[in-house]
Amino acid sequence: MSDTQQASDFDINKIGQAFLDDPFPTYKLLRKNDPVHLNPDGSYFLTRYDDVVQSFRHPAMSSDKKVDFKPKFGDGPLYVHHTNSLVFNDPPIHTRVRQLLSEAFTPRKLAELEPVIEGIIDRLLDRLADQGQFDVINDYALALPTEIIADMLGVPEEHRHKLHNYSNLILGALDPVVSPEKIAEGHAAVEEFGALLEELIAERRNTPEGGEMGEVLAALIFGEIDGDKLTPVELVQNCIFLLNAGHETTANLVGNGISILLDYPDQLQRLRDDPSLIKSAVEEFLRFQSPLQIGNRKAMEDVEFGPEGGRVEIPAGAFVHTSIGAANRDPEQFEYPEKVDIGRQPNPQLAFGIGKHICMGNTLGRIEGHVAVGKFVARFPNLRAAGEKRYHGRARFRGLDVLPVAVS
Ligand code: HEM
Repeated sequence: MSDTQQASDFDINKIGQAFLDDPFPTYKLLRKNDPVHLNPDGSYFLTRYDDVVQSFRHPAMSSDKKVDFKPKFGDGPLYVHHTNSLVFNDPPIHTRVRQLLSEAFTPRKLAELEPVIEGIIDRLLDRLADQGQFDVINDYALALPTEIIADMLGVPEEHRHKLHNYSNLILGALDPVVSPEKIAEGHAAVEEFGALLEELIAERRNTPEGGEMGEVLAALIFGEIDGDKLTPVELVQNCIFLLNAGHETTANLVGNGISILLDYPDQLQRLRDDPSLIKSAVEEFLRFQSPLQIGNRKAMEDVEFGPEGGRVEIPAGAFVHTSIGAANRDPEQFEYPEKVDIGRQPNPQLAFGIGKHICMGNTLGRIEGHVAVGKFVARFPNLRAAGEKRYHGRARFRGLDVLPVAVS
């Protein structure tokens, strides 16, 4: 079959294990032969850097999901949750809620979190050093972001073990095909986590000055701009959203980063020789294996995409998949895109999106990446793979389920 035919046969709703294991050859095929690809369900799949940027920046490309989520979630807790989450709203709601949430990410709050991150990492590394052999994902990468977000929200120790599962159940319900059981579990997770947060918020209202280092819940409860505050529903649902947005993505960054270094020993050695490369290394991990591979938008009017001479009009109402993972390997933007270069400069990777929805946690995610990967490499000079790694098999997120290593 010709490349053109293969590209035009692609269906985002019918991807197989080969795509989940390694989507990059398919991205390349599409970018070259069918960059504004029409799927059989009428949605489009964008793979060029310029088109992905345009879809994130264009005012007619909407993030609002109130209409799309109705048939899937009814009026239930998942509907309330997702439609109140910042990321699924357009201006003016988006502008207002984003401004109020930004209280959680001020430079002062981030500076307070840095020693907390270092402390968590040092404790985790001490424990792993004693073990000698372990799984990077479950024993390391996932532990950090959950702890950080729990600290930010002031979640007490005894409840923290539940957070990872809540996040999985709530995000799992967003997969394209979901069983009624999974939807019911998602609804229950929103309700349970919401009830816990309501309790914490009620306690916190009575002790406005009593937070731990790095805690941001009070800023979200009491923060106001021109007399405007988050409503009680916006507050609870966006606290849940912070866990979901910053948890798996950051764990994927750390897991993918360590996995890339194991796959490219020359780059691992380069980082050991010059630890100051950690910042550009993290940018390269984000580019090469972007934790969020595929975003989405809906065209609210006809919008043209594609290269000069091959423009395609996407009609109003069409759903658009924006492939960040493909854009980050576009040869029109990056020299030798299939090569890992931890010193790559410039590196305008799009892993955090761009435009008005650009990730609010991008500085925090980067700090977590620098500390977690930098300290890991420094602590374990004799790091090596100790078994098969496995990708978790969800097209929108790129991350591993297991990454066994030995460090003695
Ligand atoms: C390496 C880690 C991360 C990656 C790759 C990542 C990626 C992204 C991307 C691509 C978006 C834009 C979605 C869109 O335009 O539709 C986004 C939005 C967002 N992220 Fe992150 N994220 C990461 C970590 C975090 C962390 C640690 C937090 C907070 C604790 C966070 C909070 C948010 C929020 C609040 C938004 C919504 C912004 C808006 O809609 O205006 N993220 N993230």
